[in-house]
Amino acid sequence: MSIAYNSPMNPCEYIWFDNKFIGWNDANTHVLTHALHYGSGVFEGIRAYETEKGPAIFKAKKHYERLLESCEFYDITCNFTVEELIESTKKLIVKNKLPACYIRPIVYTDYGSIGIIPKESTFATAIAAWEWGSYLGDDGIKHGIRCIISDIMKTPSQAMPSVAKSCANYANSFLAKKRALNGGYDEAILLNRHGNIAEGPGENIFVIKNNAIKTPPITDDVLEGITRETAIQLAKDLGYDVSVESITPKELLQADECFFTGTAAEITPIREINDAPIGNGKKGPITHEIQTLYFDVVKGKTSQYDHWLTYCKES
Ligand SMILES: Cc1ncc(COP(=O)(O)O)c(C=O)c1O
Repeated sequence: MSIAYNSPMNPCEYIWFDNKFIGWNDANTHVLTHALHYGSGVFEGIRAYETEKGPAIFKAKKHYERLLESCEFYDITCNFTVEELIESTKKLIVKNKLPACYIRPIVYTDYGSIGIIPKESTFATAIAAWEWGSYLGDDGIKHGIRCIISDIMKTPSQAMPSVAKSCANYANSFLAKKRALNGGYDEAILLNRHGNIAEGPGENIFVIKNNAIKTPPITDDVLEGITRETAIQLAKDLGYDVSVESITPKELLQADECFFTGTAAEITPIREINDAPIGNGKKGPITHEIQTLYFDVVKGKTSQYDHWLTYCKES
């Protein structure tokens, strides 16, 4: 089975850049851009899915609210409101004729002056969108992935707030993920400074034992994932008991089932950790039930959750 390296992007015609639609190859920045040196940017990962009513963005408002909250943490100015960003994203998807896509908004400290805190900063906001398949592979979605508990510690929130989706946080994710891939695994699982389970490099984690579902609290240095919140809600609506509590490595290894959540990763089962099977080493039945409902929801097949979707083409 192949390891889940991320596939290359399929370039589209347009990128939205500070309120203009420009060509994909023209969306460039200077090598002395502040964010390139100091990680002074924040970003989002959003998906739009193909539905009967055309492409629909999943939880657009939540994502853009989180983007602006991340800006506040770092004193980064985004010159656009949540509503303006949503409208621009809808237009971008339609202009690029994308039936479904991954959306990457970024707000960053631009070229102007260098030094950690320049006297005057300028900021840029861009949104790109492209067709992107399963982040951890189609096989991973179907049958589950193989993970390793990383020896790279999750950055404590006192050092870098985990709830802000800052570019700089991803140096930590990069190290953990790279080591996992180099070791022949699909993904890493990071422990926090207390030795409890935090999250994946780009995913929240859930464990299931005796039909009860658990995910770590935000205070365990995790991103307040929008898919995490969705999975909690869906699992509760399906009648499961869900608790937000710290998880030890022992509990993780002894779980009946385990899965990752994330906009990119969607709901990906974990079938093996540290070379040992989780449960029977296959996608578990509860994971399957939540995953099936999740895909129905994002694809607009359930009227109950239709308010989570923003349709790009007004009918
Ligand atoms: C570190 C980290 N944790 C969790 C997640 C999942 O968050 P969401 O479900 O909002 O995409 C992501 C992805 O954005 C992430 O980068």
